[in-house]
Amino acid sequence: MKFFVDSADTAEIRDLAATGLVDGVTTNPSLIAKSGRPFLDVIAEICAIVGGPVSAEVAATDHETMLAEGRKLAGLASNVAVKVPLTPDGLRTCKALSDDGVAVNVTLCFSAGQALLAAKAGAAFVSPFAGRLDDIGHDGMALIRDICAIYANYDDLRTSVLAASVRGPAHVIEAARAGAHVATVPPGVLRQLFRHPLTDAGLEAFLADWRKTGQSIL
Ligand code: E4P
Repeated sequence: MKFFVDSADTAEIRDLAATGLVDGVTTNPSLIAKSGRPFLDVIAEICAIVGGPVSAEVAATDHETMLAEGRKLAGLASNVAVKVPLTPDGLRTCKALSDDGVAVNVTLCFSAGQALLAAKAGAAFVSPFAGRLDDIGHDGMALIRDICAIYANYDDLRTSVLAASVRGPAHVIEAARAGAHVATVPPGVLRQLFRHPLTDAGLEAFLADWRKTGQSIL
């Protein structure tokens, strides 16, 4: 499973990328607003930090403007993935950009039917939002499982399932169990994945015993 960081905070992204475990980044207009910085600058900076796909979302809702925005975003760096919403105009834009060889992430996917359309439009990624479905009392992970199972029926299908709106480590584990190709994870959740109290306690005990030996490796 690939791990993307769901953030527009370049300091956080830089820090996490140093682990060598970050395969890409996703942003959205809310995350850009939170950064308080110019959108194009942020995307260019993130693309220089992370070699993998960096999702940058269009702001228009009509096909022509989305296409122009998408082309501009794609011109920022070779690893930009243009993000479009799952609307008829968004999918039309996805098809046009994909036909031109631009990677497209179709966002705001909330049903398996929508995911089928995104794949048909040539999306490189489809982003089902698990957490937002959980928020309204639905089962977000059931949707991820469903899309993964449906996509697996077709050998020629090239769209990766990108589990989005991830709220905690359990979501990541469940998405991996379902076979999602990617999870986009908020920085705090990615940090949580490293942690286990028994790891901390075990390390403390080992280090205490090592100190008693009076030895050093270097
Ligand atoms: C994905 O690309 C989105 O940016 C993100 O996962 C949305 O998550 P949220 O529901 O926590 O805003």
